[in-house]
Amino acid sequence: VLLKEGKIILFVMAGTDSSASSRQSSFNSLAKDLELPLEQGCLTIVVLGASGDLAKKKTFPALYHLFEQGFLQSGEVHIVGYARTNLSDDGLRGRIRAYLKGASEEHVSEFLQLIKYVSGSYDSGEGFEKLNKEISDYEMSNNSGSSRRLFYLALPPSVYPSVCKMIRTYCMSPTSRFGWTRVIVEKPFGRDLDSAEELSSQLGELFEEDQLYRIDHYLGKELVQNLLVLRFANRLFLPLWNRDNVDNIQIVFREDFGTDGRGGYFDQYGIIRDIIQNHLLQRFSVWLQWKSLYLLSLSTLEMRKSRFCNP
Ligand SMILES: NC(=O)c1ccc[n+]([C@@H]2O[C@H](COP(=O)([O-])OP(=O)(O)OC[C@H]3O[C@@H](n4cnc5c(N)ncnc54)[C@H](OP(=O)(O)O)[C@@H]3O)[C@@H](O)[C@H]2O)c1
Repeated sequence: VLLKEGKIILFVMAGTDSSASSRQSSFNSLAKDLELPLEQGCLTIVVLGASGDLAKKKTFPALYHLFEQGFLQSGEVHIVGYARTNLSDDGLRGRIRAYLKGASEEHVSEFLQLIKYVSGSYDSGEGFEKLNKEISDYEMSNNSGSSRRLFYLALPPSVYPSVCKMIRTYCMSPTSRFGWTRVIVEKPFGRDLDSAEELSSQLGELFEEDQLYRIDHYLGKELVQNLLVLRFANRLFLPLWNRDNVDNIQIVFREDFGTDGRGGYFDQYGIIRDIIQNHLLQRFSVWLQWKSLYLLSLSTLEMRKSRFCNP
């Protein structure tokens, strides 16, 4: 479902052909119907902090799933991992492979070939010059005249300002080519309100607001978003889901693994900041709010669409 000029457009993807190319062509025709600018040409995705926990467990597997579903095309996409750790391309690929168990070997090998590794520090020009060269060489060899550059910061927030300064100085998409530069920042955005505001103003000096994407990967989880559908589009639950019929709500958070690589993160930020005011409160609001939330979710869709249209 998408919103266009105040109307809801419902797209139903039917048929038995679920191949990657058919998904890609459905996606392109959807973009055409909605008069969105076609996203084509050379795309480089840079994962900064590629040696870390988030990158191997979430970011690279998410990129793999996009690739497997046909949303990242071999001839157009180039993925670069960047961190200080001394690793070879194959070293990084081996780490990622370990988190893609159960996936088709053929797809995994094809995906891993898109990935390169550049090693460098987060606050010196040398590493970012190397990174820019890696990206530019690929763009020149791709020869599409476009340069779309996406930087994903899988890093502790303390290094965001210096990394963003380096991206701004050395790695922006050249204006001579069609394209853009975007930066994705993972939560937490600072440790408290003061540090969040400070971080925001530091990033704001370097990038326009529509170049910055602040994300919390949990909030995009399909299961969480589907709770809205379960409440408001289900004839059984809609009339029953209210204070007359629900006695109490208990939200239980469980993980079947230990700290597992997140020790540094938890020491600095703590698990309370990691999940309570965002993940668990969001669940809570979805269970409690009435239709206002539904309207809010529609305007969120509209907001996303307008970002997509005016990158
Ligand atoms: N892991 C999760 O499940 C999770 C969940 C939600 C949000 N997050 C957020 O996502 C971001 C990345 O998380 P992560 O768990 O991947 O972190 P991480 O493993 O501690 O750090 C990622 C990489 O950043 C570099 N790094 C670590 N500490 C640094 C420091 N003090 N100064 C400079 N570089 C440093 C290291 O790479 P090199 O030494 O090779 O440069 C490390 O491999 C953080 O903002 C975290 O709060 C993580």
